[in-house]
Amino acid sequence: MKQNLTIALSKGRILKDTLPLLEAANIIPAEDIFSSRKLIFDTNHENIKLVVIRATDVPTYVEHGGADMGVAGKDVLLEYGAKGLYEPLDLDIAKCKLMVAGLKDAAPVEGRMKVATKFVNVTKEYYAREGRQVDIIKLYGAMELAPIMGMADRIVDIVDTGNTLRANGLEPMDHIGYISSRLVVGKAAMKMKHRQIQPIIDMLSEAVEARKTPSEND
Ligand code: ATP
Ligand code: PRP
Repeated sequence: MKQNLTIALSKGRILKDTLPLLEAANIIPAEDIFSSRKLIFDTNHENIKLVVIRATDVPTYVEHGGADMGVAGKDVLLEYGAKGLYEPLDLDIAKCKLMVAGLKDAAPVEGRMKVATKFVNVTKEYYAREGRQVDIIKLYGAMELAPIMGMADRIVDIVDTGNTLRANGLEPMDHIGYISSRLVVGKAAMKMKHRQIQPIIDMLSEAVEARKTPSEND
């Protein structure tokens, strides 16, 4: 008998790239997620449900068994420090970089530096590796504003096109890591529901590869 399976999806920018991959794995929401206020969705499989939650909450749901598997950005996973999770597949969507940035042409900072970010743990680890003393200022968004307002010397944030940095007179300085969205699976779920989960991982993996290889007609 098939057990119930819950997949946690990050709402926001990842969702629209996630749904076609799920569809390729024959997991299709029963209704339009974007026009609904629901948090939990039925699918074309009686035993599979989707929950749509904040990106930063996905690892928490999967680690604590609120969902069996999920999709989350590597930035979120690094910051969460997920120990109770497997990360079996790079979905190759929402690709961007985690970077240190500062005001354009800013002078090097002597001594302790103020760094604004929502990635507090990642930032602490990065500067510890660099052997640099920093004071971290936790923000929840619009990190680019902090150096402009004289509140911080640097920010640690996601950079894709670089447009947000440029539009605010900032420039990228150091590259911390490449980011993309990952499939995560809870350790308990991987053990108890392996026979159901493995085929989904395999189908998603094929869909990811197919997306990488442009078809002859493109
Ligand atoms: P939350 O709502 O929990 O605060 P968030 O606002 O960071 O999270 P999104 O903006 O939807 O959520 O971003 C989700 C993920 O998309 C991020 O965790 C990151 O992996 C990726 N991402 C963020 N910004 C970009 C970008 N500019 N280009 C590409 N990918 C991005
Ligand atoms: C993300 C990130 C940067 C921007 C980078 O912000 O925090 O501000 O994208 O992308 P770019 O290099 O292509 O300009 P997002 O749009 O998700 O806003 P938020 O994090 O403030 O919600």
